[in-house]
Amino acid sequence: PASATRDEAGRLVVGGVDAESLAARFGTPLYVLDEGDVRARAARTRTAFEAAARRIGTEATVYYAGKAFLSTAIVRWVTESGLAVDVCSGGELAVALAGGAEPARLGFHGNNKSEAEIAAAVEAGVGALIIDSEIEIERVARAAAAAGRVQRVRLRVNSGVHASTHEFLATAHEDQKFGVTLGRAVELGERIRSHPSLEFLGLHCHIGSQIFDAAGFAESAARLLAEHAALLATGPVPELNLGGGFGIAYTAADDPAPIERIADGIADAVAEGCRALGIPVPKLAFEPGRTIVGPAGVTLYRVGTVKPVPTEEGWRHYVSVDGGMSDNARFALYGADYSARLASRSSAEPAALVRIAGKHCEAGDIVVDREYLPHDVGPGDLVAVAATGAYCWSLSSNYNHVPRPAVVAVDRGAVRVIVRGETIADLLARDVGHDASGTSDA
Ligand code: LLP
Repeated sequence: PASATRDEAGRLVVGGVDAESLAARFGTPLYVLDEGDVRARAARTRTAFEAAARRIGTEATVYYAGKAFLSTAIVRWVTESGLAVDVCSGGELAVALAGGAEPARLGFHGNNKSEAEIAAAVEAGVGALIIDSEIEIERVARAAAAAGRVQRVRLRVNSGVHASTHEFLATAHEDQKFGVTLGRAVELGERIRSHPSLEFLGLHCHIGSQIFDAAGFAESAARLLAEHAALLATGPVPELNLGGGFGIAYTAADDPAPIERIADGIADAVAEGCRALGIPVPKLAFEPGRTIVGPAGVTLYRVGTVKPVPTEEGWRHYVSVDGGMSDNARFALYGADYSARLASRSSAEPAALVRIAGKHCEAGDIVVDREYLPHDVGPGDLVAVAATGAYCWSLSSNYNHVPRPAVVAVDRGAVRVIVRGETIADLLARDVGHDASGTSDA
């Protein structure tokens, strides 16, 4: 996080609180979120997109993509910073509402929303429901009619642009589950308009995640705008939602463009596309998750064992910590890179090549694949892994019946638990087979 420093004793300090006291008080592994950093990132992102939109004569709404990390506390932080919230399940919807999000400023996603989820979203009065398939048009129309409401909807299309990190690929056919083919946007948009219980807001597209520059978004916007213009010929299309996916730095090798430059690049592409098509610039919407919360989080682990292993590159020290793929699945899932620091003290020892491994029964249970830590890192030391605010807690599991860690918020010296950690008793409480009477079949 932006606030990370060291105290006189060499301990890592986050949000004004030292790592060792956090670990002593709440145990490890521990997710630590810097509240001030989340708020600042939310405000900066909003300002960047609003300023870029204003420059091209329109407005922008920034939704926080709750899938990155969602709890009632972060809902308050981001909504107080002026963000809307994007959810993609009944569970996320319930948390967003419990956190006080204004229903009209919620977006609801999903490629296979259940009837119950659609009904709950309509009932809550979500401001935009994102239709992901042809089948869903009738489903949502029926639910809205049954509730006596007019539901605002976007149509998610597949622009054929696929981006990840600093590359993007534009193809004619995209073989993936989200959205409808771009070529059907007009037909399905018209279909939405034919339902009196639906109000068509416009097209939506999300091209990928951890993207470092504006080029892929610009290409996608250009493709979408052609369909947007065709739809404008037969009725209003007030908005265009270009999704999220803006990248963050996980290691020193990552160099994402600042969000202002990305916002400006997208705005320029939208303005240019609209000029070429002779149409007014629509209102814009974006859905960043990772950029808001990722860099604001760190995970603290306690080192248990250290083992030197000979490799082709020389000795590699396997530093095993008390968590792993259950609290951070991203190396196991994506081969994701992270960086780590010794957090309980500083050391003048030379650096050694380490691999930070978890405690799970799986060889791929790695938290940080390659890192250099002081040679004397050993049992009892605390290690902090940076940029774990996004897609770590939200992708966490109970693999090996390991309880999920707590999430604490730090802010200028204050500490607060925002999500309680699980206990083994929590896990056992759901295991009803040990009921002594033997009669429970609930
Ligand atoms: N909007 C939509 C429709 C999305 O599907 C996503 C992410 C976002 C917004 C937010 O994207 P962000 O700004 O956070 O990149 N588990 C993966 C990331 C999956 C992203 C899924 N969709 C990871 O850990 O990298």
